[in-house]
Formats: sequence, C-alpha cells, structure tokens
Amino acid sequence: MDFFEKVSQAKIVPVVVIEDAADAIPCARALLAGGISFMEITMRTSCALDAIRQVKENVPEMTVGAGTVLSLDNARDAVAAGASFIVSPGFCAEVVDYCIGEDIPVVPGCVTPTEITAAVNKGLTVVKFFPASVYGGRKAVKELASVFRMVKFLPTGGINQDNLAEYVNEPYIAAVGGSWLCPAKLIASHDFDEITKRSYEAVRIVREEISL
Ligand code: 3PG
Repeated sequence: MDFFEKVSQAKIVPVVVIEDAADAIPCARALLAGGISFMEITMRTSCALDAIRQVKENVPEMTVGAGTVLSLDNARDAVAAGASFIVSPGFCAEVVDYCIGEDIPVVPGCVTPTEITAAVNKGLTVVKFFPASVYGGRKAVKELASVFRMVKFLPTGGINQDNLAEYVNEPYIAAVGGSWLCPAKLIASHDFDEITKRSYEAVRIVREEISL
C-alpha cells in the first residue's frame, strides 16, 4: 500500500508544532497510543528538523512528515532529517518537482481551481485545502471535487472533534488534518494522556462514520 492509500484509510493527519525537540517523541508515542500513526511536524520552529529526526529514529511505527514546507531548501532539509512526506500550505512548483523527483509524497495547498490545475498538471492526485473553514469548508471542497474528479482533498484549518464527522466519509476527502489532537497547549503542559484521549476519540469518530 502506498502512502496515499494508507493516509486515505487512516483519515487523520495531526498537525504538530514542536517548540522543544524533547517533546517530539512523547507526542509521537501519545498519538500512536490513541491509534494514530501519521504526524506532520511543521517547519515553523527552529527545532522542527531535530523533532522530525528524533521521531524518525526512535518511533518507527510513526510515519512522520514535514508541514509548512515553503521552499526547496525546506523540503530538502526535511527529507534529509527523515520526513516521509511533505505538506505545504500553498503550491510551490520547486517543492513539488523536487518531491516527485525524489519519490517523496507531496501535498501542496490548493484552494483555487487554478492552483488545483497546477497540481493536476504535475500528476498529483491529493492536495491540501487550507484554511478549510475560511475557504468554504466541506461545501467548497465538494464543488471543487465535482470538477476535479481525479483529485482528493486534505482539508485542514478549523477542523476538530466537533466537525470531523462531516468530512471523513466523503469520497473526495483523502483525510483531514488539524492541530486539535496535539495542540501547543497540551504539548507545553506535557499532557500526553489528553493527546492520546483525543486521538482515540478521533479514531472512534472516523470508524463510526466510515461504517455508517
Ligand atoms: C495547518 O497547518 O494545516 C493548520 O495549522 C491546521 O489548522 P488548525 O490549527 O485550525 O487545525
């Protein structure tokens, strides 16, 4: 099974901002304990590469990727640190071309038909839709998907336990992302049990929706 097939089954990609690299491994283990085996560590902090490296080396059951990848250098650094996939908030052709060349799954952010067209013309079949709550939520994704039938979406931004159910069972949604499972506040207070609890609950919601 390739990366996108696995993500489409799992349905959830937590977005994680690590401020202290020492928190990366406990976060990864807390998510895993709740049944989540994907983790996007954002390149928004100075320790992001270290965090990716630590998870990659110490938590082999976790598929760790890099988020907020804005440049070719970001992408190269993230892959060198061990990122198994690359997510960007927008569409950067250099990042996409590099990932395709290296056979690294890449999910650029595309919210307009023009951006989605650019992704399609690179051969991509999954794009991020961010910030979903601002750009029209599930309704907007549905409209776009009716035209771009070859594309599945990874909405993020404003998704949480309360609206997760409305997204996950749609055929045009590959998976959803978000910070609600592993938010900065819980990481800072080392409340890893709560991260596991939220993960468990999210997995339960996904299972329930998918079996409906
Ligand atoms: C992202 O990088 O996709 C967003 O930060 C996630 O948005 P959220 O914090 O609203 O979940």
